[in-house]
This record gives sequence, structure tokens and C-alpha cells, in this order.
Amino acid sequence: MPTKMKTEPKVLIPEIKLQARIKELAQEINQDYQGREVVAICILKGSFMFYSDLIREIELPMSCEFLGLSSYGGQTITSGEVKVTLDINEPLNGKHVIVFEDIVDSGYTLRYVMSMLRTRGPASIKVCSLLYKPDSLKAEVQLDYVGFKMGNEFVVGYGLDYNEKYRTLPFIGYIENEH
Ligand code: PRP
Repeated sequence: MPTKMKTEPKVLIPEIKLQARIKELAQEINQDYQGREVVAICILKGSFMFYSDLIREIELPMSCEFLGLSSYGGQTITSGEVKVTLDINEPLNGKHVIVFEDIVDSGYTLRYVMSMLRTRGPASIKVCSLLYKPDSLKAEVQLDYVGFKMGNEFVVGYGLDYNEKYRTLPFIGYIENEH
């Protein structure tokens, strides 16, 4: 846990690599959902940048919804307690839903999202996460589209924060601990 910040974040995934991978993910989604209409749900706050870049590459009839969830507060370790800060507007009954996450770490947020959305009767739900930390996973979750698998680095930027800082960086960076 980065108690004191040593330096500014270092680049882990540069902008050019992020954007190239986003184009690939969009192509996969375009192919898989051909001829269908989707509801694209952005999990706020962390996913806003990934979501807005990716949906511009998706060529499907689509509605955009925003679901606000928070479990980290100002901490770097999940509290495990997921709080809904904003609900979506649209009924999901019979719809094809894609959930867009910036990162799946413990998996608690995604597990919560999936159980909440399944009660609303969608025809299908898939998950697209930019980042995935397989070694940190504590809840059983299924990911359909993954941008990058990563290790245990504490990552910021491109929507992700440390104490609400760094969300606006155009790359994924990591923060080193001061020992
Ligand atoms: C972060 C991130 C994911 C979740 C992943 O959200 O955006 O939604 O944590 O972690 P998990 O797999 O351990 O649950 P956070 O609660 O920090 O809120 P934020 O997106 O508003 O920063």
C-alpha cells in the first residue's frame, strides 16, 4: 500500500498500446453482437475514459447507461462493501447488456454488479474489463473481454485514481511504495 508517494506515477501501459487494444476489443464486440442492440453500462467512476473511447469504436445500435459504485473510498484495499452511488435509468428486461469495467481486482464489485443486474431480467449480460488482476481475485467472476492481464501493481490513470488523483492521465501508470 503506497503510504507515501515517492514520485509521480510511472507509465505501465502507454496511451498508444491502450488505444490499439481498445480497437481490438471493439472489433470483437462488433462481431459477437452483429444484428443486435445492446445496453452499454459504464461502471463509474473508474471506467469513464475506457468506456468513452471504446463505445466510439462500436458500430452497433446502443444505449448508454451509467452505474455508480464504490468500495475503496480513499483506501487502496477494498472494504469489500460495495456502495451504489448512482443507478441506471433504463429497464433491462429482455435486453443484451454489456458491463464495462476499468479493473477487476478482488472481483467483489463485479460480483455485486452481476447479481444486481441479473435480477432485472436481461436477455444476456457480458463483461468487458480493461484490466484484470488474476492473482488478486477473491470472488468468482466471469470476464468475456479483457484488455490486459496484470500483476499486483497499484495502478492509476486513464480513469483510475489514488485518492481521486490521476484519473485524467491518458495512460495506465503505477505507483511505487516508499519504504
Ligand atoms: C474500483 C474500480 C472497480 C473496482 C474493482 O472502483 O473502478 O470498479 O474498484 O475492484 P474490485 O474488483 O476489488 O471490487 P472504486 O471502488 O475504487 O470506485 P471508483 O471507480 O469510483 O474509483
